[in-house]
Amino acid sequence: MDWSAAALRQLAFLLALVSASSQSVSQETLDYMAKHVKVKYEVVDNFRDSLKTFSCQVSLTNTGDKPVPSRGWVIYWTQLNLLEPNHHPYPEGYLLPDYGIRFKHVQGGQFSMEPDEGFEEVQPGETRVIRFLSENYSVSRTDTYPNWYLAAPGLEPRTIVSTAGEELDWVGDFDAENKWKRFNYDIPEAKAYDRYDPYTAGTRYSVNEVEDLGGPKKHVIPTPAEMSVTEGSHLQLNTRDWAIFAPAKFSSEAKLLGERLGINVVNRKPKSHAIVFKSADIRVTVEGKQLSGPEAYSLTVDPAKDMVEIRSLEPQGAFYGAMSLLNLKDEDHKVPEASIVDAPRFEYRGLMLDVARNFHPMEDVLRLLDLMAQYKLNKFHFHLTDDEGWRLEIPGLEELTTVAGRRCHDLAETECLLPFLGSGPAPNPRGSGFYTIQQYKTILKYAARRHIQVIPEVDMPGHGHAAIKAMEARRKRFLAANNHTEANRFVLVDDDDPSWYKSIQLFLDNAVNPCLDSTYNFVTAVVRSLVETHADIQPLKTFHFGGDEVAKGAWDNSTACNTLLTSGFDFRNYKDLKEYFVRQVSNITHNYGLDLAAWEDGVMQKGSDPYTRSELENSKVYAYAWDNVWEWGVANRAHKLANNGFKVVMAQATHMYFDHPYEPDPEERGLYWAPRFTHTRKAFSFMPTDLYANADVARSGDPVKYDDLCGDDGEDCIELKKPENIAGIQGHLWSEVIRSRQQADYMLFPRFFALVERAWHEPAWERETENNMTRIKKRDEDWAEFANTLGYRELARLDRQGVEYRVPPPGAKMSQGKLVTNVPFPGLKVEFSDDGGATWCETSDDMPLTSGTTILLRTRSASGGRYSRHVQVRIDAANSAQSLVVTSLVILSSAFSLLFNKFFL
Ligand SMILES: *[C@@H]1O[C@H](CO)[C@@H](O)[C@H](O)[C@H]1NC(C)=O
Ligand SMILES: *[C@@H]1O[C@H](CO)[C@@H](O)[C@H](O)[C@H]1NC(C)=O
Ligand SMILES: *[C@@H]1O[C@H](CO)[C@@H](O)[C@H](O)[C@H]1NC(C)=O
Ligand SMILES: *[C@@H]1O[C@H](CO)[C@@H](O)[C@H](O)[C@H]1NC(C)=O
Ligand SMILES: *[C@@H]1O[C@H](CO)[C@@H](O)[C@H](O)[C@H]1NC(C)=O
Repeated sequence: MDWSAAALRQLAFLLALVSASSQSVSQETLDYMAKHVKVKYEVVDNFRDSLKTFSCQVSLTNTGDKPVPSRGWVIYWTQLNLLEPNHHPYPEGYLLPDYGIRFKHVQGGQFSMEPDEGFEEVQPGETRVIRFLSENYSVSRTDTYPNWYLAAPGLEPRTIVSTAGEELDWVGDFDAENKWKRFNYDIPEAKAYDRYDPYTAGTRYSVNEVEDLGGPKKHVIPTPAEMSVTEGSHLQLNTRDWAIFAPAKFSSEAKLLGERLGINVVNRKPKSHAIVFKSADIRVTVEGKQLSGPEAYSLTVDPAKDMVEIRSLEPQGAFYGAMSLLNLKDEDHKVPEASIVDAPRFEYRGLMLDVARNFHPMEDVLRLLDLMAQYKLNKFHFHLTDDEGWRLEIPGLEELTTVAGRRCHDLAETECLLPFLGSGPAPNPRGSGFYTIQQYKTILKYAARRHIQVIPEVDMPGHGHAAIKAMEARRKRFLAANNHTEANRFVLVDDDDPSWYKSIQLFLDNAVNPCLDSTYNFVTAVVRSLVETHADIQPLKTFHFGGDEVAKGAWDNSTACNTLLTSGFDFRNYKDLKEYFVRQVSNITHNYGLDLAAWEDGVMQKGSDPYTRSELENSKVYAYAWDNVWEWGVANRAHKLANNGFKVVMAQATHMYFDHPYEPDPEERGLYWAPRFTHTRKAFSFMPTDLYANADVARSGDPVKYDDLCGDDGEDCIELKKPENIAGIQGHLWSEVIRSRQQADYMLFPRFFALVERAWHEPAWERETENNMTRIKKRDEDWAEFANTLGYRELARLDRQGVEYRVPPPGAKMSQGKLVTNVPFPGLKVEFSDDGGATWCETSDDMPLTSGTTILLRTRSASGGRYSRHVQVRIDAANSAQSLVVTSLVILSSAFSLLFNKFFL
């Protein structure tokens, strides 16, 4: 054989290879597939090896009349559980045996699948089922993200129509135990069975149980420190002949109250029909403890004189007096005769909003600030950046918003970030969006007027994917202009760092490098910009740098870090590299006179040892204690940090994470990594100053074991030695599964009320540390009053403000041959339908119910017009009601296994 024949043969072989791998599809074919390929996703089995992996499947049905080609297309989608974890990492992809499908992990929760060797055309009418494994478990419909899409080189990507929108009706029902439970047998890691089944109507009946007191029992929420009301005596705040009078220092508060009431502010004090603000030092003593300070106020409503008086030393107190007056007033402008002397238990009363995972437009933020102010929250923790997005314009660093404020199909992430969290191939208003400097200033002004401090968070050094990609895009721009100095000025990663790591959210590239000067150029530029933006409106007081969840292994092999460590840097001064980062950030912020804030792990090294507080220059350093899963034995971090001199914000995920579901039901939205669920009553029962007493159940639903919580000898339950360092509490709305305002409202309200109550008011039962039976009894009484106040008054107030709070589905049971129903907030009405939902009537004692039939129940919102999920109940006069949630079409097994009293120890 001569060499040219051999070369020819080789060439032919190469050509064949090229043509096989470049079998391409046309735009027309891709469009056809997007329209006609129906995707169905199903969880198959969470029990296969408990905890480690679950099996799931994707079915692709060709509903059109042309075959789906065997090559040339890729499907992209989001899931937060790592796919085929036993083979990860798979840089070249993982070819699934039997199916001819190659999976790839793109970045974060982005995955792709494409046909490969062995995949055959999908014929019209055919369904191709692809079964695979994912990490851990999945028991909720909202674990599945919408907007799967098809792409091919050189073509426009297309959303697969069957996966678009918010219905998620293409996700299989969680209709068996191994789908709605996470794990099923005793293995050391699980320490227990998963106790949770979706509530039956009967289960829910016992969870809901609370006395119907026939009306709102609390005149003001949050409950004032001291209050007396004379029933039957009231004045009428008639808008025409009333006026507001205030000293100059309260003019802003007077004006805002005037706007809310439609009453004029006047220059001379009227003799009657007036709301008068006065300057006075207000103190109130509760159980021997004196409360005072700038937020203290008094309010008297005197119908005899037709006068209202609000007294306070500072504008904050005057504002809260005004808010209490608005809360006291009913829809007909009637205000009862009342006297209030009030001050908050905590200086820090916060709410965190994550606008990075999904964007929340400015209008929604302003509305939220209004609601916060109305119920006396005073800190807005603005989670502006994360791996999946950067949401604030920083002049001079345009790519932060032009690239990292957008999500679309761009695998290189040079034009936009990947379509994380199901945001689809083209920018949409939730995946993409940011606040301009002007909008951010509008938010600051709105907040300042309502005495809310905005605490911006820029999450670093972990959770830095968006910032890193933006600064890479900026580098590229300046390199193209041959400007190397500028190109490298804000670079956040070491080019010579082969370290491999995986963050909790599956990012392989999200840790900002602490050993580069350019990193601190970046931090300084961002801090400076924030300081300037806040300056004339509400000067920046606190900078939150996040600091959480830095992936293990990040920077281990970074050349920049090795150079730093071997050149004059004395590593013995630091517990780890992250501490070096923290101290640098501390210095930068201190130079601007700022306080510093971080999630608890931001100021701790692995193994939960706080960094030394005194090494940080800032006058205050706030640590947010969030990671308290009881059986992990880490709840003590809050106390460790406070004892070490950090100001601690109680942010415990077991009670204060409102991105978790309300019920252990697959149909309820939310993540469930901490508790399986948190309802309003549980949040209400939170005792921020008696931390370990909150420990109720492990994640399994079993009572938490003392050894797990406190260690063998109790040594892990470290006491709080410096209670003065507990700054306050905060609720959290993370946004991974929130893609609309309705969804945000649903997750936040009504749990929000429990937060504001605990943040402002310390109830007597919380101080009842000696006798826990007395505590439970008093707490139950307090809850009954609170729940009735929500059901009979506050929820209707939310309705009037357009807040689409969650309407809780009703509980039901058969009692003496009759169906009885209940709701967690007495006052809300339950309706039934015996014709499958065609017509509905309010439930009553003499409902025409036939034994052996099945009816539907639903709860109506306080003002009507919105309804809860439907609950299906079988009427069985002889037995107790069997029921199920209609959407999941499950007949649940007999008795419920939950022991409810465990939730409210
Ligand atoms: C998830 O699975 C991994 C791998 O088996 C395991 O290490 C981890 O503990 C599991 N996580 C949970 C929350 O069960
Ligand atoms: C590089 O860019 C910076 C910022 O735009 C500019 O000030 C500087 O003059 C540029 N340098 C060169 C060499 O073009
Ligand atoms: C760092 O490099 C060493 C030696 O090559 C390797 O064993 C180790 O896994 C690397 N660490 C990381 C986090 O990549
Ligand atoms: C922070 O500032 C202090 C005081 O100026 C200095 O001693 C320290 O080295 C600085 N720390 C870092 C990490 O730059
Ligand atoms: C109630 O108090 C007793 C006595 O202090 C204690 O032994 C018990 O564990 C407490 N129970 C709960 C549920 O906290």
